[in-house]
Amino acid sequence: MKILVTGGAGFIGSHTVVELLQASAEVIIVDNLSNSSPQALQRVAEISGKAPQFVKADVRDRAALQEIFKEHQPEAVVHFAGLKAVGESVEQPLSYYQNNITGTATLCEVMAEFGCKQLVFSSSATVYGDPEILPITENAPTGATNPYGRTKLFIEEMLRDLHVSDPEWRIALLRYFNPIGAHSSGRIGEDPAGIPNNLFPFISQVAIGKLPHLSVFGNDYATVDGTGVRDYIHVVDLAIGHLRALERLAKAPGLVTCNLGTGRGYSVLEMVAAFSRISGCEVPYQIKPRRAGDIAACYADPSFAKQELGWQAERGLEEMCQDGWRWQQGNRQGYRGSNG
Ligand code: NAD
Ligand code: UD1
Repeated sequence: MKILVTGGAGFIGSHTVVELLQASAEVIIVDNLSNSSPQALQRVAEISGKAPQFVKADVRDRAALQEIFKEHQPEAVVHFAGLKAVGESVEQPLSYYQNNITGTATLCEVMAEFGCKQLVFSSSATVYGDPEILPITENAPTGATNPYGRTKLFIEEMLRDLHVSDPEWRIALLRYFNPIGAHSSGRIGEDPAGIPNNLFPFISQVAIGKLPHLSVFGNDYATVDGTGVRDYIHVVDLAIGHLRALERLAKAPGLVTCNLGTGRGYSVLEMVAAFSRISGCEVPYQIKPRRAGDIAACYADPSFAKQELGWQAERGLEEMCQDGWRWQQGNRQGYRGSNG
C-alpha cells in the first residue's frame, strides 16, 4: 500500500513510518520540519533498511500537496502534522487554528480531489477535558480547556461532517493518551526543542544531568500519592495502532473513534521511581504548585480499540523507561548533536 504520512519526521510519525516500512508499505512523508530534524529520516531509513520518500512542504500548501498526489497517488493518509504545545497555543491561538485546522481542511480537499478518501487522524485524550468517569470510554463527554485541545475537537467535528456529507470517506480518529519511550534501537526518539513541557522527557533530562531537578506540579490531587496520574503508552505500541487502523479502514467503510492507551495510570512519583530504577540515576524533585489547566487523573478504557482494530498495547512501563533511557543516553543533544 502507498501511504502518505504528514508530519512523518516528528516523534510519533517517525516511529509509525518505521513500522509501515517494515510492513512493506510504500511511504511518502510530507513535513515542513518546523518541529523535527532531517536526521530523523536518515535514522528511519537506517532502522528499516529502506528510505521513505520525503517532500519538505507545509500541509497548508495546496499546490505542493497536489503535486504529491499527482506524482505518488497515495491510497491512504496518516495525518500527524500539526502544532502540539499547550502553553504556546494559549499565547498564539491563531497559529494553532491556522496550522491544525486549515492544514487538515486543505489536506482533505486535496485528498477528495484525487479520490483518496482514507484518513487516520492524530487526535488526543485532551478532547475529554477533565473526565468525570475513569477509565475513559470513547462516548465520554468532550470539552477543551485550551486552543490546542480545541483544534483537536474542531477537527474531529469537521471530519465527522465530512463523513456524513460523503460516506465514501473512511476515517479513524485516534485519541492518543501519553506517548513516551523510543524505538528499541535507540536511534529515534522524542527530541523536544528547549526545556521539555512533558513529564517523561523532563525526567529523562534530569536523570542524565542536563536539568538539575524535576518540579512535581502538585501533590494534593485525589490520586494514589497526590500527584497527577496519566496513561503512558509506548510510542511503538502507538505506532502499531496506526497500522491496525489502516487495515480496519481498508476492510470496512465508516468513521471510527478509538482511544489508544494502555488502560493503566501511573502517578508522577511512580514514574520518577520507575525511571530511577531502570536508569540507575537519581531523579531529584521538588513539589511545586499545580500547573494551570492540569487534571488529576486520565486513563483510557482501551477495549473498543481491541474490538474494532484488534489492537492493544503490549509494552509495559519498564520497556518504556528502558527504551527512552537508551535514546537519551545515545543522543544527549537529541538529533542536534549528530551528523548521522
Ligand atoms: P511532533 O511535533 O514531533 O510531530 C509533528 C510533525 O509535524 C513535526 O515533524 C512538524 O515539523 C510537522 N508539522 C507541523 N506543522 C506542519 C505543517 N503545517 N505542515 C507540515 N508539517 C508540519 O509531534 P508528535 O508528538 O509526533 O505528534 C504528532 C501528532 O499527534 C500531532 O498532531 C499531535 O497533536 C498529536 N498528539 C501528540 C501527543 C503527544 O503527546 N506527543 C498526544 C496526543 C496527540
Ligand atoms: C499534556 C498536554 C495535553 C496532551 C498530552 C499528551 C498540557 C497541559 N497538556 O498532557 O494536551 O494531550 O500532554 O502527551 O501540557 N508534570 C510534572 N512536572 C513536569 C511535567 C509534568 O509534575 O515538569 C506532571 C503533570 O502535572 C501531569 C503529568 O506530569 O500530572 C503528565 O504531564 P505531561 O507529560 O505534561 O502530560 P499531560 O499533562 O497529560
